[in-house]
Amino acid sequence: MDQPRRVEHQMTDKGYVPVYTSAIVEQPWSSYSSVEHQTWATLFTRQMALLPGRACDEFFDGMRDLGMSERAIPKFSDINQILLAKTGWTIIGVEGLLPEVDFFTHLANRRFPVTWWIRKPEQIDYISEPDLFHDLFGHVPLLMLPIFADYMQAYGEGGLKAARYGNEPLTELTRLYWYTVEFGLLNTANGLRIYGSGIVSSKSESLYSLESAAPNRIGFDLKRVMCTRYRIDTFQKTYFVIDSFEQLFRATVDPDFGPIYYELKGSPAFAAGEVRDNDRVFQRGSGEGWLQDGDV
Ligand SMILES: [Fe+2]
Repeated sequence: MDQPRRVEHQMTDKGYVPVYTSAIVEQPWSSYSSVEHQTWATLFTRQMALLPGRACDEFFDGMRDLGMSERAIPKFSDINQILLAKTGWTIIGVEGLLPEVDFFTHLANRRFPVTWWIRKPEQIDYISEPDLFHDLFGHVPLLMLPIFADYMQAYGEGGLKAARYGNEPLTELTRLYWYTVEFGLLNTANGLRIYGSGIVSSKSESLYSLESAAPNRIGFDLKRVMCTRYRIDTFQKTYFVIDSFEQLFRATVDPDFGPIYYELKGSPAFAAGEVRDNDRVFQRGSGEGWLQDGDV
């Protein structure tokens, strides 16, 4: 396999992470090895067995319509034919995590960056940075859902604005992404369901986020989420629950973020595991197994 071009390690609001060249790369599909296709197959099969009754219906609808299967790593060009026709989004190949403004610019233009390389077999259960499986399996099915596709574009536009306001707004907006796109839960008539990509692409967190007594599960509130620190090294202490994708979209499109940033300016952020008096609590977590420090 070719090697991704890592530029440097940088301290960011997601911790100390590698930052890659922002170049868009062609997916080197024909150079994936049989081991890499097998890694995809193992992860795909395992999650698709685990997620029924746990992930939301919209995730499965998107997965089915995109035609992803365990047979091989999907070709980005095949995905794009379907995705573009459905919601006007495309996926683009990248080397890994992008600098924030590049990332926001892609989202604002309905392009989702997908890491072209897949984890090694010994990383099946955990990898600290996004790879192809996380990005493609975790994120892309919901881009088939028009309202979620619109939310992602609005988020990118919001990110570009936040970047002009400075570091604090950027941190607050990053928390919104973290607690929705990556680790969000959805309230349905049949119970809580997963829609966050960081959960659907992880076997252990798929179980933990829904079934463990340890984490808090709290109703989504925009400002509350924007003030809440999070974990990058362990399961989340708190999951935020939306009632609908419409609610999520409206939370990003309706408010003028300028006044919100002004209102939140200088206010201390809540710890990742804190429960507030006016929270809508679905579950107050037992806190079992929580590390005491390390919120970012
Ligand atoms: Fe992600």
